[in-house]
Amino acid sequence: MSGGGGPVGVASGHGVELAVRAVLERFGPFEPLLGVILGSGLGGLADRFEGAQVVVGSDLPGWPRSTVEGHEGKVICGTLAGVPAVGLSGRVHMYEGHAPEAVILPVRVLVGLGIRALVVSNAAGGIRRDLRAGDLMLIADHIDLMYRNPLVGPVGRGETRWPDMYGTYDGELRDAVRAVALERRIPLQEGIYAGLLGPSYETPAEVRALRRLGADAVGMSTVPEVIAARAAGVRCVGVSCITNLAAGLSPELLDHEEVLETTRQVAERFQSLVLGSIERFAPLLG
Ligand code: HPA
Repeated sequence: MSGGGGPVGVASGHGVELAVRAVLERFGPFEPLLGVILGSGLGGLADRFEGAQVVVGSDLPGWPRSTVEGHEGKVICGTLAGVPAVGLSGRVHMYEGHAPEAVILPVRVLVGLGIRALVVSNAAGGIRRDLRAGDLMLIADHIDLMYRNPLVGPVGRGETRWPDMYGTYDGELRDAVRAVALERRIPLQEGIYAGLLGPSYETPAEVRALRRLGADAVGMSTVPEVIAARAAGVRCVGVSCITNLAAGLSPELLDHEEVLETTRQVAERFQSLVLGSIERFAPLLG
């Protein structure tokens, strides 16, 4: 995809290139087809890479530092279900005070390494009435309520200025995930993810408003990364782990520890779903 005729992002482009070069120097020639972002508490998938080589984000130039428990920043290169892949274990969030372009630097690096598709995962609060803590939800689409689009600023290398967001969560990849869920008898919901800036959780009034807007689940991540991937023409697919009912839908107060505990409980199902899906993605990534 072309840069849309706009100026190439000199500052961010340079930072991305340095980080891409650092990854390649570390791991040698490597052509991943797939990127995988592991959300809160879902980093266990990192252990399922074969031939894994790992670098911590703090060893890479310009890599944003996470300050959140459960979000240790690591880049893992290897193969997942036979597909050459790069995993990002831990991510940074806009609510930590990072600039939007810092939040998407890791995705731009994956794009620079040549990925064709991106799998995103996150923890989210369930808004739709049938969602329960521990459910996995295939993301059908998103609503961006983060108030700062990560593409504001110079156009990144290989990105279009005005990405079309139709089909953002790829139909074929979603079909594959649904098929695996059926085959492996993994219960799978599907719905719309609303991305809010955070870090405060929502008020019950906001949750009611989000429901009226059409949101099924709410979280504080994913949207910037997916927008960046789409700007570069990378196909996206995402799974939310519903870790709690959104504010006001249960008598319990929201708590980050509870979020992590729920992700630990679903880790096995989540990993099985993602690994099975990647096997099915393989012929689609050529
Ligand atoms: N709201 C926002 N983000 C979240 C939630 C929630 O209820 N649960 C996990 N991440």
